[in-house]
Amino acid sequence: MSPVTWLLTGGAGYVGSHVAHALRATGREVVVLDDLSTGLARRVPPDIPLVQASVLDSATVTDVLRRYRIDGVIHLAGKKSVSESVADPGYYYQENVVGLWRLLAAMEAAGVTRLVFSSSAAVYGEACGAAVDETSGTVPLSPYGWTKLAGEDLIRHAGDVDGLRWLTLRYFNVVGAGSPALGDTTVSNLVPMTFRALDQGRRPRIFGDDYPTRDGSCIRDYVHVADIADAHVVAAARLEGPGAEVNTVYNVGRGVGVSVKEVLDVVRETTGRTFQPDIVRRREGDAPAVVAQVTAIDQALGWRAQRDLTDMIRSAWAGWRTPIPAPIPHRLGNERPHESTGQLLLALGERH
Ligand code: WQD
Repeated sequence: MSPVTWLLTGGAGYVGSHVAHALRATGREVVVLDDLSTGLARRVPPDIPLVQASVLDSATVTDVLRRYRIDGVIHLAGKKSVSESVADPGYYYQENVVGLWRLLAAMEAAGVTRLVFSSSAAVYGEACGAAVDETSGTVPLSPYGWTKLAGEDLIRHAGDVDGLRWLTLRYFNVVGAGSPALGDTTVSNLVPMTFRALDQGRRPRIFGDDYPTRDGSCIRDYVHVADIADAHVVAAARLEGPGAEVNTVYNVGRGVGVSVKEVLDVVRETTGRTFQPDIVRRREGDAPAVVAQVTAIDQALGWRAQRDLTDMIRSAWAGWRTPIPAPIPHRLGNERPHESTGQLLLALGERH
């Protein structure tokens, strides 16, 4: 059987590039479509075709689906900053919801019926305190969370109506790097924000330590990005088979709650840096505790996180300390010229 070909939207992003590497390591064919608004072309392995385009560009998406004979789509392209979504909700609905809607239409036009969707723990909002399972209430606290919930509903409808076979993965707090070159360069979450404070000689901040938790700081379920990538591989494999156990939502976390203060303790141990954090006022919209119940994905797909918090922080620190690598020597890909409005970045010389 010829290898299955997956289109990875957002495959030049922090999580997406880890998924690209993980899929390729299994022998699958991968094509990346990314508008490079936040993604980095250098994250994409040189032997993987990279089409620079937005999922909003229906003509290019449809052309790519047909030209590369795509068997399935893993949709990670989207905007993910909670604060940015509060500042500009319309932009988030356009990028995350309209973008998905157009992708689904292009998939239907091209006859592609397999989809893995990147969702988020942000759909849960104020978690009830205990670990949340996939049947827990979903009342997002941000427009970002609402766009992810809306996306899940669009996909569920497409599955009911158009025969789409899908799996949705609700990521919890993603940390770490599968290799130093793939570190998280967006400084919008706890660990990179802490690293940046240390680099700038500032005290890392704790947004409130008066929450009803064991040490007063918020508790989250941190999960290694390499484990997240592995979850996409098992989800893709499930959709490649004839099995009926699809059209389901899964939490992807460790099922272990860790407080902000405990994360900072591991940062001290791992980096060797000594520091006293600055306790500042609570950040609007933060829930005291959001921890995943993760038995569903383990029982259905046999996936569970393999890496612990030290692995996450150590690899994140290595990624943070690594300068952007020099371009890999120029080599022509084996892709055919791409006439559509999407731009095919053939040689690394253009991927910097
Ligand atoms: C974690 C905790 C902060 C920075 C969001 C999205 C979620 C996912 C991850 C995409 C909170 C505290 C943070 C700092 C701090 N994104 N904090 N000092 O808000 O749990 O989740 O990003 O899917 O969907 O909702 O992540 O890393 O921003 O914050 O004390 O300098 O760390 O208050 O309690 P969050 P985060």
